[in-house]
Amino acid sequence: MRISVIGCGYLGAVHAASMAKLGHDVVGIDVDPARVETLARGIAPFFEPGLSELLVEARDRLRFSVDMGAVRDADLHFIAVGTPQQPDSNAADLRYVEAAIDGLLPHLSAGDLVVGKSTVPVGTAARLAERVATTGARLAWNPEFLREGFAINDTLSPDRLVYGIAPGDEAAVTVLDEVYAGAIKGGTPRIVTDYATAELVKVAANAFLATKISFINAMAEIAEATGADVTQLADAIGHDPRIGRRFLNAGLGFGGGCLPKDIRGFMARAEELGVDQALSFLSEVDAINLRRRSRMVDLTRESVGGSLEGKNIAVFGLAFKPDSDDVRDSPALDVAMHLLDEGAHVVATDPKAIETARSKCPGLDYAPDAATAARDADAIVVVTEWAQYKTLDPHGLAPLVAARVIIDGRNCLDPAVWRAAGWHYRALGRP
Ligand code: UDX
Repeated sequence: MRISVIGCGYLGAVHAASMAKLGHDVVGIDVDPARVETLARGIAPFFEPGLSELLVEARDRLRFSVDMGAVRDADLHFIAVGTPQQPDSNAADLRYVEAAIDGLLPHLSAGDLVVGKSTVPVGTAARLAERVATTGARLAWNPEFLREGFAINDTLSPDRLVYGIAPGDEAAVTVLDEVYAGAIKGGTPRIVTDYATAELVKVAANAFLATKISFINAMAEIAEATGADVTQLADAIGHDPRIGRRFLNAGLGFGGGCLPKDIRGFMARAEELGVDQALSFLSEVDAINLRRRSRMVDLTRESVGGSLEGKNIAVFGLAFKPDSDDVRDSPALDVAMHLLDEGAHVVATDPKAIETARSKCPGLDYAPDAATAARDADAIVVVTEWAQYKTLDPHGLAPLVAARVIIDGRNCLDPAVWRAAGWHYRALGRP
């Protein structure tokens, strides 16, 4: 099939490359010439395992352009632009979606299918469908569920496919089935529904995941007040298959470009719809999540004697989660900045996210690796659970630091091992 993908950020770049991998002819459109050039050279503009390789592998069927006119050859157009949080409210900022549709309309032909992938407030698709219909084209909504670090696999082998279509638009189902023929043949469940349900599936899934994480972090607060161990609690309740152990890792909580802004955007939309009470629990989910970051700073302050002023703190991790260089709403970077605000001398490190963090927070000191960051530290804080931090050797680090103090913000270290090596070990939700 001949496909265009409008927007080549995280979602769009991965989607374009994956569609080409599936054998489709793809053009990716982005307004940023530098990004287009990087992608065209077969280089991923952000860290995502396998993406650069895929861009090279699929090169013959994949091109990128800043010119919207390049979509003319395609008859299927994916909208994959970002919907960030508005700077002054909880609501999603739809300006990029609107701009994508504005740019696309003059190039659409009767019979084309426009497919929204971006995460949008419920009701958006129905509104856009009217505009698309003026050209004789049609609209479907097909939300993505990709996780950073697993984005290619999540696109090629999704857990489920959701098609939100206009009433009776069976032709859209046929087109999307052809796009995803491999996954469907492999048994991927597919749900064909209306626009509103498709839009809601995405935000409901993210709201559920965020709630699960904040639930266990609320239990961590209780554990801290009672001397209980939240990781054992999670293991024990996770054995109940109705609950499940995944997404029950207590610690610094969720961040990134999706979960935080999606739950806030969902609340804002519910308020517009007059059903804000239905989602008022999400403001608690958000508050629990943010409280973990202050608790981490409190624990660090306590562990270095009550004041952070002038203390050397090594921060291990900057990305919002391992295997990513993304620092959008990163709990790790937030903690580092709070430590700095309280007068600590912070040296931060991360296997992949130093450059993205530096462009956002130039005031921090950065070290290329854990050993360099740990030099003369009064405390080490582990805030992203990268594999290399989980396997750190407490005996190897001991001679480098000024004091053997470690605060485990992701419950990813073995307290017994660190304590046996003479370290003062503290964690969130664990004695
Ligand atoms: C998420 C959704 O998983 C994905 O389906 C959606 O399309 C986009 O948003 P992503 O942002 O890549 O994906 O991150 P995810 O792996 O879900 O983790 C989100 C955050 O939750 C991270 O900061 C992570 O550290 C945190 N987390 C996750 C926990 O704190 N505890 C857990 O048990 C799991």
